[in-house]
Amino acid sequence: MPCQQFYHTRTAGVELRVGLRLDNALHFSHYVPLAVADKLTHMKSVTIASGQLAVVDQGQGPPLLLVHGFPLDHTLWQNQIEPLAANYRVIAPDLRGIGQSSAVSAAPLTMAAFADDLANLLDAIEVREPIHYCGLSMGGYIAWEFWRRHPQRLRSLILCDTKAAADTPETAATREQWAVDVLRSGTTVVEQAILPKLMAPATYQQQPAVGEQVRRMLLDTRPETFAAGQRGMALRIDMRPYLGEIRLPTLLIVGSEDAISPPQEMHAMAEAIAGSRLITIPKVGHLTSLEAPDEFTAAVLEFLAEQG
Ligand code: MLT
Repeated sequence: MPCQQFYHTRTAGVELRVGLRLDNALHFSHYVPLAVADKLTHMKSVTIASGQLAVVDQGQGPPLLLVHGFPLDHTLWQNQIEPLAANYRVIAPDLRGIGQSSAVSAAPLTMAAFADDLANLLDAIEVREPIHYCGLSMGGYIAWEFWRRHPQRLRSLILCDTKAAADTPETAATREQWAVDVLRSGTTVVEQAILPKLMAPATYQQQPAVGEQVRRMLLDTRPETFAAGQRGMALRIDMRPYLGEIRLPTLLIVGSEDAISPPQEMHAMAEAIAGSRLITIPKVGHLTSLEAPDEFTAAVLEFLAEQG
């Protein structure tokens, strides 16, 4: 397996993550706070059919795949990786187009394409047993396609701050406009439209370092990746008619202030998935794993423990 090394350099209270490829080219990625940087040392680069995926592969035990939202990266799970890796093999990739993973064009990147990347990743790192799949927002949209296309690979689902409904025509049109704008002028043009929806206002006020981290993830997203992801999300089908067919242990998690995946919508999803459970974390928004890391991790650990 071709490997790419990452190391960290420290300056002014933040950590610059640097990738060194086999060809000795340096790749710089976004800054992460020092407090979390030391937890993110288990990255490797894995070759799959569509290119290279940078992935954290840490711990031993039943495999647990953590699939980030958009336009974010694996550091969405920075507070979960270490505690979960005490009992599980935690696999947390940067999806195609993100971070050190292969670049993409601006053509739509469908949820099915991402799902197939993940199945190929599991093959490449020799994960044969069914996995626990945990996805947040777009990571949840990908979960639906993973379930449709690779059902035998699933042991349970953890669906965080996500939706089953397709985009409305208005939402799809907004995504296309954002794609065009970002391709023309860069990600800063959507900062004001996107950032306020990602986390609760209180999180931005009380955890400014987390706010800056999320901002950097958005701004560091390549314009082509941004366009491809928005266009891919706009092509999602309505999964609501299929929810009754899910026969997997399922946990749903939502922030009470989630402005993108409203709690009532997740409540309806929980009602439709037999035997599932919904946990609402109070006073936080869409990025529950970052905004309320302890509550989030505890909910996931409790659910996983129940699966034996
Ligand atoms: C995400 O967090 O993945 C996005 O907000 C999802 C979306 O744009 O629908």
